[in-house]
Amino acid sequence: MSSDIHPEFHRQLGRGSKEALLGQRAVVVWLYGLSGSGKSTLAHLLERSLHEEGRATVLLDGDNLRTGLNSGLGFTEDDRRENIRRVAEVAKLFVHSGVITICSFISPYRSLRSLARQVIGEEDFLEVYVHATFESCTRRDPKGLYQKAAEGKVAHFTGRDSVFEEPDQGFTGLRLDTEHETKEQSLDRLLGAVRPRIVRAG
Ligand code: ADX
Repeated sequence: MSSDIHPEFHRQLGRGSKEALLGQRAVVVWLYGLSGSGKSTLAHLLERSLHEEGRATVLLDGDNLRTGLNSGLGFTEDDRRENIRRVAEVAKLFVHSGVITICSFISPYRSLRSLARQVIGEEDFLEVYVHATFESCTRRDPKGLYQKAAEGKVAHFTGRDSVFEEPDQGFTGLRLDTEHETKEQSLDRLLGAVRPRIVRAG
């Protein structure tokens, strides 16, 4: 950091006051998995459910953010890292404002998930792997991207030309299996993991 920059975080109104106003504790729910695995669907369902329960939420989604904040970024390793770094910083701003922040990004490398966790902070980070095999995502192909990629028309396509790393053995987050669960079942399990994290103590 340049010696000409003088951050004064301590002068800002504290997170606790904001959470008290909103009557909730904030957390970042980080959904990741292949394109077409069901991340965005579950992210939307989660946001709607929490909203109906009176929670203040925000949803950050890869495709959406890539039309604005991250519009200059592509799908090389470096660009994906910058994508996730920016999103994690934005998520941190929201969580420190007391808002439940739902992130939906492929985040294909373990190092990207670690980066997000590190920027946001362990205790504010709920990691959710949305699992569906490449074959099943190819069959669903909601955006026609798997077909395009098969024709060689999508550079660095995840799962094909660019690696997707599964969580490792010690994974302590939530794993949703959208091939074997209905979306209602996945949503129930997701809500089950999120609800205890958003209750204010005392
Ligand atoms: S990430 O890898 O950097 O986390 P992000 O979630 O922001 O990716 O964006 C993924 C979305 O971009 C996909 O859902 C898909 O619609 C679109 N997309 C376009 N090109 C690619 C590609 N080469 N690989 C994966 N997704 C792509």
